[in-house]
Amino acid sequence: MPSVLITGCSRGIGVEFVRQYAAEGWTVYATVRDAERAEALVSVRGEVVVLELDVADPASVAILAERMRGVPIDLLINNAGVYGPRNLRVGNVPYPVWQDVLAVNVLGPMRVIETFIEHLRLGAQKKIVALTSKMGSMADNTSGGTYIYRSSKAALNATIKSVALDLRPEGFSAAVLHPGWVRTEMGGPSALIEPRESVTGMRRVIDGLTPQTTGRFYNYDGKEIPW
Ligand SMILES: NC(=O)c1ccc[n+]([C@@H]2O[C@H](COP(=O)([O-])OP(=O)(O)OC[C@H]3O[C@@H](n4cnc5c(N)ncnc54)[C@H](OP(=O)(O)O)[C@@H]3O)[C@@H](O)[C@H]2O)c1
Repeated sequence: MPSVLITGCSRGIGVEFVRQYAAEGWTVYATVRDAERAEALVSVRGEVVVLELDVADPASVAILAERMRGVPIDLLINNAGVYGPRNLRVGNVPYPVWQDVLAVNVLGPMRVIETFIEHLRLGAQKKIVALTSKMGSMADNTSGGTYIYRSSKAALNATIKSVALDLRPEGFSAAVLHPGWVRTEMGGPSALIEPRESVTGMRRVIDGLTPQTTGRFYNYDGKEIPW
């Protein structure tokens, strides 16, 4: 069966990805920042290997890649992400916090891709996705604000678009996925859909990725989102 490496599996959308791929018989490398706080994964049935990974910490990424040396990964899901502060306006932007968010949401996924590229080359499917947000779409920005989160996801989109084009000759496909507004710690209780619906949809999109259609921005239901 294929294998998937997923970041940010302590809760929310990450846990649901683990649950659904494990239920389909995949080997799931489920990564969390702190294995002591991975209670949500305990009840997941199937071939699940829980590993520690902080995507913002270069040493943590390197240590895991070395530990997994020679292990093929068919699919990489860069799911880990942070929102940062809400209610920002011109005049109160916290720059050090902005850098921290970029470290997780932009540098993190790229670092994981680069560091695990040999594992991905060994995989048969050669697929890379990253969880972005409609908040990173220029076309969709009609309400302003949220400088930090919006800019981080826009930068992630630009990064994955280039990765998609650069790796296409090797048979890779890559995409950025908007999960919808999902009821998680980040999405909050008013969100419109449950992780189950979001992840079911995103798995369908991932199934359909090909090198010919690489480098696109998809909603969880498969519709394309304008950049
Ligand atoms: N929920 C939504 O409505 C929504 C909408 C659009 C996009 N998204 C995106 O979807 C993804 C998942 O969101 P979610 O709703 O499941 O969020 P969540 O409930 O807040 O979970 C975020 C996950 O990311 C992990 N994480 C944070 N910083 C990390 C780091 N440095 N290294 C590794 N893992 C880290 C967290 O781990 P810890 O427990 O260790 O903090 C947690 O497992 C994110 O990229 C988010 O931006 C979500």
